[in-house]
Amino acid sequence: MTLDLETIRSHFPALAVADGGRQRLYFDNPAGTQVPQSVADSMSDCLLHANANLGGYFQTSHLADKVVSDARDAMVDFLNAPSADEIIFGQNMTTMTLHLSRSIGRYFNAGDEIILSQMCHDANVEPWVLLARDFDLKVRWLPFDVETFEFDLTKLDDLLTSKTRLVCIGGASNLTGTINDVKTVCSKAREAGAWSFVDAVQSAPHVSTDVQALGCDFLVCSAYKFFGPHQGILWGRRELLEALEPYKVRPASDRIPGCFETGTQSHEGMAGVGAAVDYFAWIGETMAGDFHAANRQYDGRCLYVHAAMDCLFAYEKDLAERLIDGLQSISGVTVQGITDSDALHRRVPTVSFTHDGKAPADIAQGLGERNIFVWNGHNYAIEPAKALGILDSGGAVRVGPVHYNSIDEIDILLNALEDILA
Ligand SMILES: Cc1ncc(COP(=O)(O)O)c(C=O)c1O
Repeated sequence: MTLDLETIRSHFPALAVADGGRQRLYFDNPAGTQVPQSVADSMSDCLLHANANLGGYFQTSHLADKVVSDARDAMVDFLNAPSADEIIFGQNMTTMTLHLSRSIGRYFNAGDEIILSQMCHDANVEPWVLLARDFDLKVRWLPFDVETFEFDLTKLDDLLTSKTRLVCIGGASNLTGTINDVKTVCSKAREAGAWSFVDAVQSAPHVSTDVQALGCDFLVCSAYKFFGPHQGILWGRRELLEALEPYKVRPASDRIPGCFETGTQSHEGMAGVGAAVDYFAWIGETMAGDFHAANRQYDGRCLYVHAAMDCLFAYEKDLAERLIDGLQSISGVTVQGITDSDALHRRVPTVSFTHDGKAPADIAQGLGERNIFVWNGHNYAIEPAKALGILDSGGAVRVGPVHYNSIDEIDILLNALEDILA
């Protein structure tokens, strides 16, 4: 069984769209992926047939209850979470992090320390910086090596003290593409008596995510980055969620997960999340047979989803290799991330680069004119861009292939870049 790219692409209507006869090339995926037809259908079905609030004595409400509970079950499988009660839905990762940080902060005392990573997107930085300001906490920074684009985790040992209460880390960088050793970070945090908060927004679309294997305390991700709709998902360890005080209105549930789900939720979004997880399961069942044995600790849909992620990761590694090799062969280009072909398993295929003669915005514009979609700038990765010395010079151009992209598309992009940068 191998990845059948043609069949995969046929599930994404957006991939067939052309503008003025020119095919669209989607390399803007780290900012948001396209969705399979099944996701749009599921959302539409929810809006047309299950459009009601929860817990009523009538049919549309019963159906809405089922949409929500199915979506929680889907995320249990996606994250290998111990229970559906630990899956919390919300508007997006940033909003959910800002919200939960208030509850977490109530647990800390002035003078307590939190560790933030210099590689994180601002959504896993500023909520905690603000919390530290409000609760008089001390922020300590975990730097990354700007030559290797990775952490030296012995530096984490130096930062952890008896006062450390929280360690925030990202699964993968949205700028450099580095995959972090989250498991080791979480285990070091736990040994020091601190909680761990993992931003898996950029790892979840590419890497199998298992909250139990990672040993984390909280993990957040966003479905619109993994072929679903705009919807945030937060997993938290049951005993911690039950211990935290939720910021909520009085009539809302006092029990998890509802107590952390502020106001009326996007049930259609949840329906789309369930369909996105089922999309991965479909790949796992029909194309990822070679990866089943390595995932035999999982059952049913959970097995299929995790086998799919491993299968897609292997495919995406080839895309990353072609992209990085091609970029490095263009004069004046610097890849701002891991390039060693032996280390590609430690990065996602999100590749950022700078050029010594042309600004990132001009390059992105040149590509946009050719209907090739990329992002430029710091992409909210303020601390990483600062560390790399590119914050004040327009950041970088970010090319983010995912599994529905082809090697041919990478070659078209590279040819266009050679033209633009000639
Ligand atoms: C690594 C990372 N974390 C967090 C976010 C914020 O996610 P959301 O848009 O769901 O708030 C992003 C968005 O690009 C991201 O790339």
